[in-house]
Amino acid sequence: MKRLHSMKKLSFFIVFLLVLLVLNVSCLAQTESTAAPMEKTEKEALYSTMQGFVGNSWNGSDLYPDPCGYTPIQGVECDVIDGLWYVTALNIGPIHDNYPSCTENSEFRSHLFEFKHLKTLSFYYCFVTSNKSISSLNWGKLAGTLESLEFRENPGLTGQIPQGFGEISKLQSLVLLENGLSGALPSNLGDLVSLRRLVVAGNRFTGEIPASLGNLSQLLIFDSSRNYLTGVLPRTIGGLSSLLKLDLSNNYLSGKLPSEIGNLKTLTLLDLRNNNFSGGLAQSLQEVTALEEMALSNNPMGGNLMGFKWENLQNLVSLDLSRVGLTGEVPESIGELKRLRFLGLNDNNLIGNISPKLADLPSLSTVRLNGNNFSGELKFSKGFYEKMGRRFGAWSNPELCYPIELLSSTSDVPVGLKPCREN
Ligand SMILES: *[C@@H]1O[C@H](CO)[C@@H](O)[C@H](O)[C@H]1NC(C)=O
Ligand SMILES: *[C@@H]1O[C@H](CO)[C@@H](O)[C@H](O)[C@H]1NC(C)=O
Ligand SMILES: *[C@@H]1O[C@H](CO)[C@@H](O)[C@H](O)[C@H]1NC(C)=O
Ligand SMILES: *[C@@H]1O[C@H](CO)[C@@H](O)[C@H](O)[C@H]1NC(C)=O
Ligand SMILES: *[C@@H]1O[C@H](CO)[C@@H](O)[C@H](O)[C@H]1NC(C)=O
Repeated sequence: MKRLHSMKKLSFFIVFLLVLLVLNVSCLAQTESTAAPMEKTEKEALYSTMQGFVGNSWNGSDLYPDPCGYTPIQGVECDVIDGLWYVTALNIGPIHDNYPSCTENSEFRSHLFEFKHLKTLSFYYCFVTSNKSISSLNWGKLAGTLESLEFRENPGLTGQIPQGFGEISKLQSLVLLENGLSGALPSNLGDLVSLRRLVVAGNRFTGEIPASLGNLSQLLIFDSSRNYLTGVLPRTIGGLSSLLKLDLSNNYLSGKLPSEIGNLKTLTLLDLRNNNFSGGLAQSLQEVTALEEMALSNNPMGGNLMGFKWENLQNLVSLDLSRVGLTGEVPESIGELKRLRFLGLNDNNLIGNISPKLADLPSLSTVRLNGNNFSGELKFSKGFYEKMGRRFGAWSNPELCYPIELLSSTSDVPVGLKPCREN
């Protein structure tokens, strides 16, 4: 009995020891991770790189003696690799309130290209007034590690996209949004086969969309809107088999949409507004069945809506075909787009009657039919006009009218239309 008791005591003691040991080890692991050493070259590269951007008065070694440990620098991320700290992300610019801003004459020091494990590099509102070109820098040196490269809102970032960007083969995200960049999009961007996001919107790019971009089969988002791009949409666009969003709006693109656009089976957004596309509505668009938003307005496309299988596009939420030179009538099948919220057909040359079936679309909240040559009597209920108010536009259709009975039963008559004469 006594013996058993002492056994119990002993096992208790052993458990106690084990608990101590575990506590101690986890404690050690913690201090070890914060105290992991950093190579002098890596640390100095960090200080010098940062100083180049935020200015010479910024003294890194003074302010941040342990930049990956207990004195972190806002915007800098590190990782322990083989027992040493390395910089893995640099986010420069006032992304959050407490982030250091760039100095007026911020510069790229060569140290930037010495980081061995840099995965993310981003600049926000850093190059503002001075003309800063990045085309002669040694981007290829970051090729082995860099996965995300972003320049956002840097109006002072000018010159061309460096050829070297095409060598950063692990790149998954290249965002050059709202800078002062110009020149053509280099065709070797098509070599970046891991790219999932390519955004070059809001610059001054000219020239054509390189056919090689069709090699980017992993690409989910391509946005080159708000530039000065010309030429046609290349047939290779059909190679972007994972694409979800395609925004080419506000350029000078022309010609017919290639039938290969029908290969984009996962595309949910197609925005081609404000270009110079012609040649009618591409029949192949009816194969892009995932489409939720189709915006083609302000293009001299021409063509008509009949003979297009609208009923295929059951996911469509927004259809903007204003100012595209459409002729002919509006097919009943538009009334089968059950998820439609926005329908813009204004400022075309459409004719014929307007089907009252439109009113049955449960989510419909805006309809623009104004500026056409529709005719006859509108057959919507007074409840429809009450629901839509000003979001129903049918004015500037001289031959279109609403039933005179409506006048006495509601104040919500369609704006800008006359009641039909009683003859
Ligand atoms: C930063 O501060 C340290 C110590 O105060 C000083 O020795 C060093 O010269 C300074 N470096 C720069 C670049 O100002
Ligand atoms: C930047 O370059 C453009 C064109 O080369 C020039 O018009 C502009 O004045 C320059 N701006 C500055 C601040 O140097
Ligand atoms: C990339 O695209 C270009 C032009 O479309 C083509 O000539 C080339 O063979 C493609 N490269 C690869 C690796 O598919
Ligand atoms: C628009 O495209 C047509 C050819 O379809 C061309 O003749 C015209 O110059 C283009 N306009 C602009 C502004 O690019
Ligand atoms: C509008 O349609 C009417 C017939 O409904 C036709 O007489 C008229 O010429 C058309 N106007 C235009 C501008 O197409």
